Amino acid sequence: MSLFEPTRSPETEEILGSDAADFVAGVYEKLASVYDLTFGPALHPGRVDAIQRMRIKPGERVLEVGIGTGINAPLYPSDCLVTGIDLSSSMLEKARDRVFRKGVRNVRLLQMDAANLKFADDTFDVVYAPYVISVVPDPVGVAREMRRVCRFGGRIIILNHFRSKNTLMAWIERIISPFTVHIGFKSDLDLPAFLAQAELEPVSIEKVNVPRIWSLVICTKD
Ligand SMILES: C[S@@+](CC[C@H](N)C(=O)[O-])C[C@H]1O[C@@H](n2cnc3c(N)ncnc32)[C@H](O)[C@@H]1O
Repeated sequence: MSLFEPTRSPETEEILGSDAADFVAGVYEKLASVYDLTFGPALHPGRVDAIQRMRIKPGERVLEVGIGTGINAPLYPSDCLVTGIDLSSSMLEKARDRVFRKGVRNVRLLQMDAANLKFADDTFDVVYAPYVISVVPDPVGVAREMRRVCRFGGRIIILNHFRSKNTLMAWIERIISPFTVHIGFKSDLDLPAFLAQAELEPVSIEKVNVPRIWSLVICTKD
C-alpha cells in the first residue's frame, strides 16, 4: 500500500460516480494535508474579491461547490447560511476542523458530487465555485447543476483559470494541458465556449490574483 493510499468510507464509495470523479477525489485525498500551504495565500486575494462582489444580504442561502479545506468559510458574513459541498472526505475533514477552530457557525458541510447535487431546483440565492471548474471531469455539467439549484434572479459565481486571450500563453496552456490533467487540472478551458454550453450569461468578468490569470465570472439566473 502506498503512503498516500486513501481509505474510503462507504459514503465516499457511494458518491463517486465515475472513474474520472474517482481520480479527482484521489488527487484531493492526497493533497488535503498540504493544500492550504500550496494553494492558500497565492489564491486568496481572488477569494476575498469574490465574496465581496457577491454582496450577500442577511439571511441569504449560499452554496459553495468544492469547499475543500473550508478556506473561504470564515470569509462569509455571519448572518447568511452557507452550505459547502465537496467530493473529498479528507478535504472536508480539514474544513470541519477549520470551522470548529474559527467558531464559524453558519456553514454546514456535506460530502457530495458537484455533478449530481442533491438539492431541489432554485434552492440557493448564491451558488459559488472557487477554483473548482477546471478540476471536475465535466465542467459544463457542474455549471448546469449550479444553475439548476440557483433561484431565479440569484447569482452564479465562478472563480477559475481559463485559456488566455494572449496567443503565446494560450499555446503554452494547450501544450501543458495533457500533463496538468494528471494532477486533475485542465489548463486550457475556453471561457466563452464554457459559458455558452452551460447557458450562463456573464454580468461581469474580471481578472484577479497576481499574476492576473484567474477570472472572477459573475452571472445571474434569468
Ligand atoms: C482546487 S480545490 C478548491 C478548494 C477551495 N474552493 C478553495 O478556494 O481553495 C478543488 C476542490 O474541488 C473538489 N472537487 C473536485 N471535484 C469535485 C466534484 N465533482 N464534486 C465536489 N467537489 C469536487 C476537490 O475535492 C477540492 O476540494
